[in-house]
Amino acid sequence: MCGIVGYAGSRQAAPVLLNGLEKLEYRGYDSAGVCVHNAEGLVAVKAKGRLSVLKDRLEGGSALPGCVGIGHTRWATHGAPSDVNSHPHLSYTGKIAVVHNGIIENEARLREKMLRKGATFVSETDTEVVANLIGYYYEKTGDFVRAVRETVTRLEGSFALGILCADLPGTIIAVKKDSPLIFGFGDGEHFVASDVPAILKYTQTVAYLEDGDMAVFDANHVTFYDSTGEEVEKVREKITWEMSAAERGGYDHFMLKEIFEQPKALRDTISPRLRDGKITLDGVELSAEYLRGLRKIYLVACGSAYYVSVLAKYIIEKNCRIPAEAMMASEFRYCDPVVDEKNLVIFVSQSGETADTLAALREAKTRGAHTLAIVNVVGSAIAKAADQVIYTWAGPEIAVATTKAFSTQLAVVYLLAMQMAKTLGTMSDEQYATIVEGLEQLPYDVDQVLSPKYLERCQYLASRCCGHHDAFYIGRNIDSGICMEGSLKLKEIAYLHSEAYPAGELKHGPISLIEDGMLVVALSTVRELFDKTMANVKEVKARGADVLCITLEDLEEQAGKIADNTIGIPAIHPMLQPSLSIIPLQLFSYYVALARGCDVDKPRNLAKSVTVE
Ligand code: AGP
Repeated sequence: MCGIVGYAGSRQAAPVLLNGLEKLEYRGYDSAGVCVHNAEGLVAVKAKGRLSVLKDRLEGGSALPGCVGIGHTRWATHGAPSDVNSHPHLSYTGKIAVVHNGIIENEARLREKMLRKGATFVSETDTEVVANLIGYYYEKTGDFVRAVRETVTRLEGSFALGILCADLPGTIIAVKKDSPLIFGFGDGEHFVASDVPAILKYTQTVAYLEDGDMAVFDANHVTFYDSTGEEVEKVREKITWEMSAAERGGYDHFMLKEIFEQPKALRDTISPRLRDGKITLDGVELSAEYLRGLRKIYLVACGSAYYVSVLAKYIIEKNCRIPAEAMMASEFRYCDPVVDEKNLVIFVSQSGETADTLAALREAKTRGAHTLAIVNVVGSAIAKAADQVIYTWAGPEIAVATTKAFSTQLAVVYLLAMQMAKTLGTMSDEQYATIVEGLEQLPYDVDQVLSPKYLERCQYLASRCCGHHDAFYIGRNIDSGICMEGSLKLKEIAYLHSEAYPAGELKHGPISLIEDGMLVVALSTVRELFDKTMANVKEVKARGADVLCITLEDLEEQAGKIADNTIGIPAIHPMLQPSLSIIPLQLFSYYVALARGCDVDKPRNLAKSVTVE
């Protein structure tokens, strides 16, 4: 979603801001803008469309002198993408400039109030309301910090704000609630940003702002305040990953790079948790007594993280014999769920900032449930809010379409399910030892499916299938969960209409859509259900479907007698098989998207972290 960057120092601000915004492009946006404080006052330049349009307008930044400024990439919510709706927004008084991430829920009421007070509005955005409120209180009090405080106490919703004041050259105020904001410490310069990559080129020393925190800073000084207005010290943290982790490093796209990073990401996630043939999830305390008393485990998430939750339901129920249910966070929140202290609620999120997941977590806590988060971004809101957290060590994921985060979330689900099964005694020592071995081997297995043989096959099949308009993904049991993820990948990056259905459910309605040439991707890796799934493949073949079947290597020949095309993957432990099945589906979507000329890393209308409801 939107991205914020702010700079105060001795460099020219505009090029620093543009560089930062470029690093935030992955979050998804449809317009961009910067405001610099210089001899002319607050000068804002904004442009609808790609950042390159703004860059051209600013001649790479050189057309806008000044050493202090704020910048923004906007993902439209209130008002269409346009120059005028882009941030930064100036107050009607002309004294205040604001960039904003999040949503102001009482925007309409505040707008009315400000109109009555004589303010004027030029845009349709909720952000202009914030600028006007700060402008109003600044006129009243003559105090910049106080004006921001008066304003934020009146805001409902989520916000991360970067604010300039015409009368205070050099000063920036940053404040946040329910939207991420980090502060960067440099030598004679300071930064603020919504995400680390925006400032990593300049500093690796950061502080994470908490909800209600405010940073008032210039090039040389910063004062932090907490939500009560008390001055506080913030812990300085060192970012341990290098800029190269957030760069393409020779790959054509971040998505392809991240697909190839999966063996390493899996190794980093699994290895530290395996000690002497035992799974140890540090910091996760789930006693046998607690687990035995559970009525149900809920898994709550959005998008791909929800599909991991769907897979987790199968894995937990099979191995731990505890009822489990996957729920979309946006539904969990408003369905009055039957949740109390007899429920463990697990939240899965790459960004740790997804608004629906965060809100669902708060809902579960209010109802007395114990909460556990599986998160990739360290220190993110979901990681902080949950009672316990297990990190996926996937490293920064830049492509909008998740790959390595999905794979590592799944790995954490295996680890967690095994630890719970061991605690509960629902699995024999032999079974446990076999799975631990399988987990150790998993990164190598995934590596195999990334070999040139699979790449070329997926590329060839993508070139054959890229002309299709519709696709069905079908599979049974855990294959059906992977089908959901495979289908989403195709939708989001290749813009191809696609649906995932449990194979056995097809004949209860959707089969009426199967006609000549319809693409059906059948996943059949659950050995004992192979014949059943192939029977469904026969049904769609009989109605003219073009079938691509992904199955186990030793079953490929048999599948090839029915399906038009096949991919055979190595058979590993059945519980771990989804980690291999997903790879050809990721590659297939990637190559279909390329063949269709789509912008793989920045698919239209999508954002990397969805911080609005
Ligand atoms: C996956 O490719 C999507 N970009 C999307 O579905 C994503 O998984 C979802 O928005 C959840 O995000 P999170 O993991 O950061 O919470």
